[in-house]
Amino acid sequence: MKLGRLNHVGVATPSIEKSVAMYRDLLGAEAIGAPFDLPAQGVRVCFVDAPNSQIELIEPLGEASPIVKFLEKNPTGGQHHICFEVPDIHKAKAEMEAKGAKVLGEPRIGAHGTLVIFVHPRDTGGVLIELMETPGQAH
Ligand code: CO
Repeated sequence: MKLGRLNHVGVATPSIEKSVAMYRDLLGAEAIGAPFDLPAQGVRVCFVDAPNSQIELIEPLGEASPIVKFLEKNPTGGQHHICFEVPDIHKAKAEMEAKGAKVLGEPRIGAHGTLVIFVHPRDTGGVLIELMETPGQAH
């Protein structure tokens, strides 16, 4: 596998609205998408564009959201994961597992509409890594 482009940095927040206001008013972000629900991942999502990448704001959607525990530990929110693009998610998953890294669950549709997986932070130096199939990639 060859490491692809850094697609986004995932930031958990108890309030997308408050985080959007901070990125806009404090940091000067101008391109901010509309929030949307991503039930498959149990999160509400909003993208803030930086010139070279994006911040993915994620807020819990429902009590079973996978980020509820993270926000209990980090009540004001915090950096949650980083996401790199890969050409083929199934090949990436097989390669992670062949190299002994734990992949969390099966590939599922992520916030950009392509398949994603998460690699356990235990195997990646404490950083939750999302791998995302590059949009528009044919295989
Ligand atoms: Co993400």
